[in-house]
Amino acid sequence: VAAGVMLCSTFSHAADKLVLGFAQVGAESEWRTANTESIKSSAKEAGVDLKFSDAQQKQENQIKAIRSYIAQKVDVIAFSPVVESGWEPVLREAKAAKIPVILTDRAIKVSDDSLYTAFIGSDFLEEGRRGGRWLEDHYKGAQGPINIAELQGTVGSAPAIDRHNGLIEVIKSDDRFKIIASQSGDFTRAGGKQVMEAMLKSYGKQIQVVYSHNDDMAIGAIQAIEEAGLKPGKDIVIVSFDATKGGFQAMMAGKMNVSVECSPLLGPQLMETAKLVAAGKSVPKRIVTKETVFPMETAAAAFPSRKY
Ligand code: AHR
Repeated sequence: VAAGVMLCSTFSHAADKLVLGFAQVGAESEWRTANTESIKSSAKEAGVDLKFSDAQQKQENQIKAIRSYIAQKVDVIAFSPVVESGWEPVLREAKAAKIPVILTDRAIKVSDDSLYTAFIGSDFLEEGRRGGRWLEDHYKGAQGPINIAELQGTVGSAPAIDRHNGLIEVIKSDDRFKIIASQSGDFTRAGGKQVMEAMLKSYGKQIQVVYSHNDDMAIGAIQAIEEAGLKPGKDIVIVSFDATKGGFQAMMAGKMNVSVECSPLLGPQLMETAKLVAAGKSVPKRIVTKETVFPMETAAAAFPSRKY
């Protein structure tokens, strides 16, 4: 955890409820729905006045929402950035207005780290490595080539970039693994199905592994694989991310081999951090979510306690 940052108590509603403006990515996945629900319910529980906007996966909508929170003089702004780059101008405006900004879920690339106060979320690079290590383990002793079709998340988003890089980091020294196709399905079920259909048309049975950046795209891909007369989980190994209930159901049906956990339940930590920041207290710059890996064999036992 990086060193803490201290902010002056700049919030405008000190005596009243904390006003938090939150700019959400959209509603693209089961994960995102759970994330929105976590933020809304924790705000209620924490007595935070939440202003919520849904950007429908468009950066310009998020920027507009952030500008409107600045104009409304909220106490704290939080957002889950659609993509990594392009945030400096609007964050400079927030800084000039002395409104602290908390990032949740996804990271950004800025030359000046003081443009945000804290970042709460997963380590996507480590998640990618976990997916890669599972593959190494699964194919221990097997002969190559092992052909991978990759379903990428939203182009330019932190989870798409890092889950790809994490995989590469692990498999680059093992020349049995080859990524023969890689395309974005934008983290949606429909996108995953459409991309998988096209990949099956081009590569057919050459595909041994689908490495899908989230469960929704994997579920879409599973449908496409079944419609092509193949058995997902057997003829084609499915590696996925999130570990949502939908992912668990696919694992319990034997159609998904592993889901690397990515927790959307960031609401309670966000409310706690926003209150500290608004009160001028020191908070860690980076708060990493604790997560694990669920291979299909563990799914039935873990399912009853899953919260999303
Ligand atoms: O940023 C987190 C990712 O975004 C999740 O893996 C995905 O399901 C969501 O859409």
